[in-house]
Amino acid sequence: MNNFKRSIIVTGGAGFIGSHVVRHLIKHHPDYLIINVDKLTYAGNLENLKDIENEPGYLFRRIDICDHQAIMRLMTDYNVTGIIHLAAESHVDRSIEDPFTFARTNVLGTLSLLQSARNVWEQSPEGYDGKLFYHISTDEVYGALDFDGSLFTESTPYAPHSPYSASKASSDHFVRAFHDTYGMPCIITNCSNNYGPYQFPEKLIPLFINNICHNRSLPVYGEGLNVRDWLYVEDHAAAIDLIFHKGTVGETYNIGGFNEKKNIDLVHALIKVTDRLLGRPEGASIPLITYVSDRKGHDLRYAIDASKLQRELGWTPSLQFEEGLERTVRWYLDNREWMERVTTGEYEDYYKNMYADR
Ligand code: NAD
Ligand code: DAU
Repeated sequence: MNNFKRSIIVTGGAGFIGSHVVRHLIKHHPDYLIINVDKLTYAGNLENLKDIENEPGYLFRRIDICDHQAIMRLMTDYNVTGIIHLAAESHVDRSIEDPFTFARTNVLGTLSLLQSARNVWEQSPEGYDGKLFYHISTDEVYGALDFDGSLFTESTPYAPHSPYSASKASSDHFVRAFHDTYGMPCIITNCSNNYGPYQFPEKLIPLFINNICHNRSLPVYGEGLNVRDWLYVEDHAAAIDLIFHKGTVGETYNIGGFNEKKNIDLVHALIKVTDRLLGRPEGASIPLITYVSDRKGHDLRYAIDASKLQRELGWTPSLQFEEGLERTVRWYLDNREWMERVTTGEYEDYYKNMYADR
Protein backbone atom coordinates (compact mmCIF):
# COMPACT_ATOMS: atom_id res chain seq x y z
CA MET A 1 0.00 0.00 0.00
CA ASN A 2 1.07 3.60 -0.40
CA ASN A 3 -0.29 7.05 0.44
CA PHE A 4 -1.28 7.96 -3.09
CA LYS A 5 -4.92 8.29 -4.08
CA ARG A 6 -4.37 6.08 -7.10
CA SER A 7 -1.52 4.15 -8.76
CA ILE A 8 -1.37 4.13 -12.54
CA ILE A 9 1.01 2.38 -14.88
CA VAL A 10 2.00 4.24 -18.04
CA THR A 11 3.76 1.85 -20.43
CA GLY A 12 6.24 3.34 -22.88
CA GLY A 13 6.67 6.40 -20.66
CA ALA A 14 10.29 6.91 -21.76
CA GLY A 15 9.25 7.32 -25.40
CA PHE A 16 8.00 10.38 -27.24
CA ILE A 17 4.28 10.56 -26.41
CA GLY A 18 4.63 8.53 -23.21
CA SER A 19 7.06 11.04 -21.68
CA HIS A 20 4.56 13.86 -22.32
CA VAL A 21 1.76 11.77 -20.80
CA VAL A 22 3.84 11.03 -17.68
CA ARG A 23 4.81 14.72 -17.30
CA HIS A 24 1.20 15.83 -17.81
CA LEU A 25 -0.16 13.37 -15.22
CA ILE A 26 2.52 14.25 -12.64
CA LYS A 27 1.68 17.93 -13.07
CA HIS A 28 -2.12 17.62 -13.01
CA HIS A 29 -2.53 14.77 -10.51
CA PRO A 30 0.04 15.24 -7.74
CA ASP A 31 -1.96 12.81 -5.57
CA TYR A 32 -1.36 9.92 -8.01
CA LEU A 33 1.58 7.54 -8.23
CA ILE A 34 2.62 7.35 -11.89
CA ILE A 35 4.65 4.23 -12.62
CA ASN A 36 6.55 4.43 -15.87
CA VAL A 37 7.04 0.89 -17.22
CA ASP A 38 9.47 0.87 -20.10
CA LYS A 39 11.90 -1.64 -21.57
CA LEU A 40 14.17 1.17 -22.87
CA THR A 41 14.49 0.11 -26.47
CA TYR A 42 16.39 2.42 -28.85
CA ALA A 43 13.31 4.71 -28.67
CA GLY A 44 13.13 4.90 -24.87
CA ASN A 45 15.18 7.63 -23.26
CA LEU A 46 14.90 8.55 -19.58
CA GLU A 47 16.53 11.88 -20.33
CA ASN A 48 13.08 12.83 -21.70
CA LEU A 49 11.86 12.87 -18.08
CA LYS A 50 14.83 14.50 -16.32
CA ASP A 51 12.70 17.44 -15.13
CA ILE A 52 10.26 15.24 -13.19
CA GLU A 53 12.35 12.19 -12.23
CA ASN A 54 12.63 13.28 -8.58
CA GLU A 55 8.94 14.04 -8.10
CA PRO A 56 7.46 11.97 -5.23
CA GLY A 57 4.64 10.71 -7.48
CA TYR A 58 6.99 9.29 -10.11
CA LEU A 59 8.44 5.81 -10.25
CA PHE A 60 10.36 4.11 -13.07
CA ARG A 61 10.59 0.37 -13.63
CA ARG A 62 12.56 -1.13 -16.49
CA ILE A 63 10.26 -3.98 -17.51
CA ASP A 64 9.32 -5.55 -20.84
CA ILE A 65 5.51 -5.57 -21.18
CA CYS A 66 5.84 -9.22 -22.26
CA ASP A 67 7.12 -10.08 -18.75
CA HIS A 68 3.83 -11.31 -17.32
CA GLN A 69 5.17 -12.11 -13.81
CA ALA A 70 6.99 -8.81 -13.35
CA ILE A 71 3.92 -6.81 -14.44
CA MET A 72 1.61 -8.78 -12.12
CA ARG A 73 4.01 -8.29 -9.20
CA LEU A 74 4.21 -4.57 -9.85
CA MET A 75 0.43 -4.24 -10.13
CA THR A 76 -0.10 -6.11 -6.88
CA ASP A 77 2.68 -4.31 -4.96
CA TYR A 78 1.27 -0.88 -5.82
CA ASN A 79 -2.44 -1.70 -6.08
CA VAL A 80 -2.53 -0.44 -9.67
CA THR A 81 -6.04 0.50 -10.80
CA GLY A 82 -5.27 2.02 -14.18
CA ILE A 83 -3.03 1.22 -17.14
CA ILE A 84 -2.36 3.68 -19.95
CA HIS A 85 -0.68 1.55 -22.58
CA LEU A 86 1.64 3.31 -25.02
CA ALA A 87 4.62 0.94 -25.21
CA ALA A 88 5.07 -0.16 -28.79
CA GLU A 89 7.36 -0.33 -31.75
CA SER A 90 6.14 2.80 -33.53
CA HIS A 91 8.07 3.44 -36.76
CA VAL A 92 6.48 2.31 -40.03
CA ASP A 93 9.79 2.09 -41.96
CA ARG A 94 11.30 -0.22 -39.32
CA SER A 95 8.18 -2.43 -39.48
CA ILE A 96 8.74 -2.92 -43.20
CA GLU A 97 12.29 -4.17 -42.48
CA ASP A 98 11.49 -6.22 -39.35
CA PRO A 99 7.80 -7.10 -38.90
CA PHE A 100 8.45 -9.77 -36.23
CA THR A 101 9.63 -7.29 -33.61
CA PHE A 102 6.38 -5.39 -34.16
CA ALA A 103 4.27 -8.52 -33.71
CA ARG A 104 6.16 -9.42 -30.53
CA THR A 105 5.79 -6.11 -28.74
CA ASN A 106 2.61 -4.67 -30.22
CA VAL A 107 0.54 -7.85 -30.47
CA LEU A 108 1.96 -10.34 -27.96
CA GLY A 109 3.11 -7.61 -25.57
CA THR A 110 -0.37 -6.07 -25.49
CA LEU A 111 -1.96 -9.50 -25.04
CA SER A 112 0.43 -10.31 -22.21
CA LEU A 113 -0.32 -6.97 -20.51
CA LEU A 114 -4.07 -7.56 -20.84
CA GLN A 115 -3.68 -11.02 -19.35
CA SER A 116 -1.60 -9.65 -16.44
CA ALA A 117 -4.25 -7.00 -15.71
CA ARG A 118 -7.01 -9.57 -15.95
CA ASN A 119 -5.32 -11.95 -13.50
CA VAL A 120 -4.64 -9.25 -10.93
CA TRP A 121 -7.91 -7.35 -11.21
CA GLU A 122 -10.22 -10.39 -11.32
CA GLN A 123 -8.68 -11.58 -8.08
CA SER A 124 -8.87 -8.23 -6.29
CA PRO A 125 -11.73 -7.81 -3.75
CA GLU A 126 -13.57 -5.24 -5.94
CA GLY A 127 -12.90 -7.08 -9.20
CA TYR A 128 -12.99 -4.71 -12.17
CA ASP A 129 -14.70 -1.90 -10.21
CA GLY A 130 -12.71 1.35 -10.45
CA LYS A 131 -10.22 -0.15 -12.92
CA LEU A 132 -9.37 0.92 -16.48
CA PHE A 133 -7.16 -0.45 -19.26
CA TYR A 134 -6.64 2.41 -21.70
CA HIS A 135 -5.01 1.43 -25.00
CA ILE A 136 -3.34 4.09 -27.17
CA SER A 137 -3.65 3.34 -30.86
CA THR A 138 -3.29 4.99 -34.21
CA ASP A 139 -5.38 6.24 -37.14
CA GLU A 140 -3.27 3.96 -39.39
CA VAL A 141 -5.48 0.96 -38.48
CA TYR A 142 -8.18 2.43 -40.73
CA GLY A 143 -6.01 2.17 -43.86
CA ALA A 144 -5.76 5.00 -46.37
CA LEU A 145 -8.13 7.65 -47.73
CA ASP A 146 -8.35 9.20 -51.18
CA PHE A 147 -8.20 12.94 -51.88
CA ASP A 148 -11.98 13.18 -51.58
CA GLY A 149 -12.44 15.00 -48.28
CA SER A 150 -13.55 11.83 -46.47
CA LEU A 151 -12.52 11.28 -42.84
CA PHE A 152 -11.87 8.29 -40.56
CA THR A 153 -14.64 7.94 -37.97
CA GLU A 154 -14.82 5.49 -35.07
CA SER A 155 -16.93 3.15 -37.25
CA THR A 156 -14.59 3.12 -40.27
CA PRO A 157 -13.72 -0.55 -40.91
CA TYR A 158 -10.15 -1.58 -40.12
CA ALA A 159 -7.91 -1.95 -43.21
CA PRO A 160 -4.27 -1.76 -42.10
CA HIS A 161 -1.56 -1.90 -44.77
CA SER A 162 1.86 -1.75 -43.12
CA PRO A 163 3.20 -4.36 -40.69
CA TYR A 164 3.12 -1.59 -38.04
CA SER A 165 -0.55 -0.78 -38.58
CA ALA A 166 -1.43 -4.48 -38.85
CA SER A 167 0.19 -5.05 -35.44
CA LYS A 168 -1.65 -2.07 -33.91
CA ALA A 169 -4.97 -3.22 -35.43
CA SER A 170 -4.41 -6.66 -33.95
CA SER A 171 -3.68 -5.19 -30.52
CA ASP A 172 -6.88 -3.10 -30.73
CA HIS A 173 -8.87 -6.27 -31.49
CA PHE A 174 -7.37 -8.02 -28.45
CA VAL A 175 -8.29 -5.09 -26.22
CA ARG A 176 -11.90 -5.19 -27.50
CA ALA A 177 -11.94 -8.96 -27.08
CA PHE A 178 -10.94 -8.62 -23.40
CA HIS A 179 -13.72 -6.10 -22.91
CA ASP A 180 -16.34 -8.19 -24.68
CA THR A 181 -15.27 -11.58 -23.32
CA TYR A 182 -14.11 -10.95 -19.76
CA GLY A 183 -15.83 -7.63 -19.08
CA MET A 184 -12.50 -5.86 -18.60
CA PRO A 185 -13.07 -2.08 -18.53
CA CYS A 186 -11.22 -0.84 -21.61
CA ILE A 187 -11.04 2.28 -23.74
CA ILE A 188 -9.21 2.66 -27.06
CA THR A 189 -8.18 5.88 -28.77
CA ASN A 190 -6.90 6.21 -32.33
CA CYS A 191 -4.80 9.29 -32.89
CA SER A 192 -3.23 11.00 -35.88
CA ASN A 193 0.45 12.04 -36.33
CA ASN A 194 1.95 13.70 -33.26
CA TYR A 195 4.77 16.24 -33.34
CA GLY A 196 6.68 18.16 -30.69
CA PRO A 197 9.72 17.87 -28.37
CA TYR A 198 11.45 14.54 -27.60
CA GLN A 199 10.40 12.72 -30.79
CA PHE A 200 13.00 10.24 -32.00
CA PRO A 201 14.69 11.71 -35.10
CA GLU A 202 13.72 8.88 -37.41
CA LYS A 203 10.27 10.49 -37.80
CA LEU A 204 9.75 13.15 -40.47
CA ILE A 205 9.73 16.38 -38.43
CA PRO A 206 12.72 15.89 -36.06
CA LEU A 207 14.71 14.10 -38.78
CA PHE A 208 14.29 17.01 -41.17
CA ILE A 209 15.04 19.69 -38.53
CA ASN A 210 18.26 17.85 -37.67
CA ASN A 211 19.19 17.46 -41.34
CA ILE A 212 18.56 21.15 -42.05
CA CYS A 213 20.88 22.06 -39.14
CA HIS A 214 23.63 19.84 -40.61
CA ASN A 215 22.98 20.80 -44.25
CA ARG A 216 22.09 17.20 -45.06
CA SER A 217 19.57 16.19 -47.71
CA LEU A 218 15.87 15.96 -46.87
CA PRO A 219 14.60 12.63 -48.29
CA VAL A 220 10.99 13.16 -49.38
CA TYR A 221 9.32 9.85 -50.23
CA GLY A 222 7.72 9.63 -53.69
CA GLU A 223 6.39 12.98 -54.84
CA GLY A 224 5.68 14.27 -51.33
CA LEU A 225 1.94 14.32 -52.02
CA ASN A 226 0.88 12.05 -49.14
CA VAL A 227 -1.25 13.74 -46.51
CA ARG A 228 -1.05 13.41 -42.71
CA ASP A 229 -3.10 15.08 -39.96
CA TRP A 230 -0.78 16.67 -37.37
CA LEU A 231 -1.44 17.14 -33.66
CA TYR A 232 0.84 18.79 -31.10
CA VAL A 233 1.89 16.11 -28.62
CA GLU A 234 0.85 18.03 -25.49
CA ASP A 235 -2.68 18.27 -26.88
CA HIS A 236 -2.64 14.49 -27.24
CA ALA A 237 -1.46 14.11 -23.62
CA ALA A 238 -4.29 16.40 -22.44
CA ALA A 239 -6.82 14.35 -24.43
CA ILE A 240 -5.50 11.13 -22.87
CA ASP A 241 -5.89 12.56 -19.35
CA LEU A 242 -9.45 13.67 -20.14
CA ILE A 243 -10.47 10.35 -21.67
CA PHE A 244 -8.82 8.34 -18.88
CA HIS A 245 -10.97 10.18 -16.35
CA LYS A 246 -14.17 10.99 -18.26
CA GLY A 247 -14.34 8.56 -21.18
CA THR A 248 -17.02 5.86 -21.34
CA VAL A 249 -15.79 2.31 -20.79
CA GLY A 250 -16.04 0.16 -23.90
CA GLU A 251 -15.85 3.16 -26.23
CA THR A 252 -13.38 4.15 -28.91
CA TYR A 253 -12.48 7.80 -29.52
CA ASN A 254 -10.62 9.29 -32.47
CA ILE A 255 -8.14 12.06 -31.65
CA GLY A 256 -6.87 14.38 -34.37
CA GLY A 257 -5.57 17.85 -35.08
CA PHE A 258 -8.12 18.98 -37.72
CA ASN A 259 -4.92 19.83 -39.52
CA GLU A 260 -4.19 18.00 -42.78
CA LYS A 261 -0.91 18.75 -44.54
CA LYS A 262 0.63 17.43 -47.74
CA ASN A 263 4.16 16.22 -46.86
CA ILE A 264 5.86 18.58 -49.30
CA ASP A 265 3.94 21.58 -47.92
CA LEU A 266 4.92 20.57 -44.40
CA VAL A 267 8.56 20.29 -45.47
CA HIS A 268 8.47 23.81 -46.95
CA ALA A 269 6.88 25.18 -43.75
CA LEU A 270 9.56 23.44 -41.70
CA ILE A 271 12.36 24.84 -43.85
CA LYS A 272 10.93 28.34 -43.56
CA VAL A 273 10.79 28.31 -39.74
CA THR A 274 14.11 26.51 -39.28
CA ASP A 275 16.03 28.77 -41.69
CA ARG A 276 14.58 31.85 -39.98
CA LEU A 277 15.50 30.63 -36.50
CA LEU A 278 19.00 29.67 -37.69
CA GLY A 279 19.43 33.16 -39.17
CA ARG A 280 19.74 31.81 -42.72
CA PRO A 281 18.24 33.64 -45.71
CA GLU A 282 14.67 32.61 -46.54
CA GLY A 283 14.61 29.47 -48.69
CA ALA A 284 18.31 28.70 -48.13
CA SER A 285 17.60 25.03 -47.31
CA ILE A 286 15.12 24.35 -50.12
CA PRO A 287 17.89 22.81 -52.31
CA LEU A 288 18.32 20.13 -49.62
CA ILE A 289 14.97 18.59 -50.66
CA THR A 290 15.68 15.28 -52.41
CA TYR A 291 12.92 13.11 -53.83
CA VAL A 292 13.67 9.46 -53.06
CA SER A 293 11.94 6.10 -53.72
CA ASP A 294 8.55 5.88 -52.13
CA ARG A 295 7.91 3.94 -48.91
CA LYS A 296 6.52 0.47 -49.76
CA GLY A 297 2.74 0.47 -49.44
CA HIS A 298 2.80 4.18 -48.53
CA ASP A 299 -0.69 5.19 -47.36
CA LEU A 300 -1.90 8.15 -49.43
CA ARG A 301 -3.90 10.15 -46.92
CA TYR A 302 -4.94 10.00 -43.26
CA ALA A 303 -7.57 12.36 -41.87
CA ILE A 304 -9.38 12.03 -38.57
CA ASP A 305 -12.88 13.03 -37.62
CA ALA A 306 -12.46 13.85 -33.91
CA SER A 307 -15.97 15.28 -33.51
CA LYS A 308 -17.13 12.53 -31.13
CA LEU A 309 -14.46 13.51 -28.62
CA GLN A 310 -15.31 17.18 -29.12
CA ARG A 311 -19.04 16.60 -28.75
CA GLU A 312 -18.99 14.15 -25.85
CA LEU A 313 -16.05 15.34 -23.75
CA GLY A 314 -15.52 18.90 -24.97
CA TRP A 315 -11.93 18.29 -26.14
CA THR A 316 -10.36 20.43 -28.81
CA PRO A 317 -6.69 20.99 -29.72
CA SER A 318 -5.36 24.11 -27.98
CA LEU A 319 -2.55 24.97 -30.37
CA GLN A 320 -2.61 26.27 -33.95
CA PHE A 321 -0.22 24.35 -36.21
CA GLU A 322 1.97 27.39 -36.99
CA GLU A 323 2.53 28.00 -33.28
CA GLY A 324 3.13 24.29 -32.60
CA LEU A 325 5.66 24.05 -35.41
CA GLU A 326 7.56 27.14 -34.26
CA ARG A 327 7.64 25.81 -30.68
CA THR A 328 8.85 22.43 -31.93
CA VAL A 329 11.65 23.80 -34.12
CA ARG A 330 12.79 26.10 -31.30
CA TRP A 331 12.91 23.17 -28.89
CA TYR A 332 15.11 21.06 -31.20
CA LEU A 333 17.42 24.01 -31.90
CA ASP A 334 17.71 24.75 -28.17
CA ASN A 335 18.32 21.07 -27.40
CA ARG A 336 20.90 20.11 -30.00
CA GLU A 337 22.86 18.17 -27.38
CA TRP A 338 19.80 15.96 -26.79
CA MET A 339 19.62 15.38 -30.54
CA GLU A 340 23.34 14.62 -30.64
CA ARG A 341 23.12 12.08 -27.81
CA VAL A 342 20.07 10.41 -29.34
CA THR A 343 21.53 10.14 -32.82
CA THR A 344 24.84 8.76 -31.52
CA GLY A 345 23.11 6.31 -29.17
CA GLU A 346 25.10 7.71 -26.22
CA TYR A 347 22.00 7.81 -23.95
CA GLU A 348 21.42 4.08 -24.48
CA ASP A 349 24.68 3.03 -22.82
CA TYR A 350 24.23 5.46 -19.94
CA TYR A 351 20.69 4.54 -18.90
CA LYS A 352 20.82 0.89 -19.81
CA ASN A 353 23.84 0.37 -17.57
CA MET A 354 22.14 2.30 -14.80
CA TYR A 355 19.03 0.09 -14.90
CA ALA A 356 20.72 -3.12 -16.02
CA ASP A 357 19.68 -5.14 -12.98
CA ARG A 358 16.03 -4.03 -12.72
P1 NAD B 1 8.11 5.76 -29.29
O1 NAD B 1 8.71 4.79 -30.25
O2 NAD B 1 8.69 7.13 -29.19
O3 NAD B 1 8.14 5.14 -27.81
C1 NAD B 1 7.80 3.81 -27.54
C2 NAD B 1 8.25 3.48 -26.12
O4 NAD B 1 7.86 2.13 -25.83
C3 NAD B 1 9.76 3.55 -25.92
O5 NAD B 1 10.07 4.23 -24.72
C4 NAD B 1 10.18 2.08 -25.82
O6 NAD B 1 11.34 1.89 -25.01
C5 NAD B 1 8.96 1.45 -25.21
N1 NAD B 1 8.84 0.02 -25.50
C6 NAD B 1 8.95 -0.58 -26.72
N2 NAD B 1 8.81 -1.91 -26.59
C7 NAD B 1 8.59 -2.16 -25.28
C8 NAD B 1 8.34 -3.34 -24.52
N3 NAD B 1 8.32 -4.55 -25.11
N4 NAD B 1 8.13 -3.23 -23.20
C9 NAD B 1 8.16 -2.01 -22.58
N5 NAD B 1 8.41 -0.87 -23.25
C10 NAD B 1 8.62 -0.93 -24.58
O7 NAD B 1 6.56 5.81 -29.64
P2 NAD B 1 5.54 7.03 -29.67
O8 NAD B 1 5.64 7.71 -30.96
O9 NAD B 1 5.69 7.79 -28.42
O10 NAD B 1 4.15 6.22 -29.65
C11 NAD B 1 3.59 5.79 -28.42
C12 NAD B 1 2.29 5.06 -28.70
O11 NAD B 1 1.37 5.92 -29.36
C13 NAD B 1 2.44 3.84 -29.59
O12 NAD B 1 1.57 2.84 -29.10
C14 NAD B 1 2.00 4.32 -30.96
O13 NAD B 1 1.47 3.27 -31.72
C15 NAD B 1 0.93 5.32 -30.57
N6 NAD B 1 0.73 6.42 -31.53
C16 NAD B 1 1.79 7.18 -31.95
C17 NAD B 1 1.56 8.26 -32.79
C18 NAD B 1 2.70 9.16 -33.25
O14 NAD B 1 2.47 10.04 -34.07
N7 NAD B 1 3.91 9.00 -32.76
C19 NAD B 1 0.26 8.55 -33.23
C20 NAD B 1 -0.79 7.73 -32.79
C21 NAD B 1 -0.55 6.68 -31.93
O1 DAU C 1 -0.70 8.44 -38.11
C1 DAU C 1 -0.18 8.09 -36.87
C2 DAU C 1 1.21 7.50 -37.05
O2 DAU C 1 2.09 8.59 -37.36
C3 DAU C 1 1.71 6.76 -35.82
O3 DAU C 1 0.87 5.67 -35.56
C4 DAU C 1 3.15 6.29 -36.03
O4 DAU C 1 3.65 5.68 -34.85
C5 DAU C 1 4.01 7.49 -36.38
O5 DAU C 1 5.32 7.08 -36.66
C6 DAU C 1 3.43 8.24 -37.58
O6 DAU C 1 3.55 7.44 -38.77
P1 DAU C 1 3.98 8.08 -40.20
O7 DAU C 1 4.52 7.01 -41.04
O8 DAU C 1 2.88 8.90 -40.75
O9 DAU C 1 5.14 9.09 -39.69
P2 DAU C 1 6.58 9.45 -40.30
O10 DAU C 1 7.09 10.63 -39.54
O11 DAU C 1 7.44 8.26 -40.44
O12 DAU C 1 6.21 9.94 -41.78
C7 DAU C 1 5.33 11.04 -42.02
C8 DAU C 1 5.15 11.17 -43.52
O13 DAU C 1 6.38 11.61 -44.09
C9 DAU C 1 4.83 9.86 -44.22
O14 DAU C 1 3.94 10.11 -45.29
C10 DAU C 1 6.16 9.38 -44.76
C11 DAU C 1 6.90 10.66 -45.04
N1 DAU C 1 8.37 10.62 -44.87
C12 DAU C 1 8.86 10.14 -43.69
C13 DAU C 1 10.22 10.08 -43.47
C14 DAU C 1 10.77 9.51 -42.18
C15 DAU C 1 9.21 11.11 -45.86
O15 DAU C 1 8.77 11.58 -46.92
N2 DAU C 1 10.56 11.05 -45.64
C16 DAU C 1 11.10 10.55 -44.50
O16 DAU C 1 12.37 10.50 -44.36
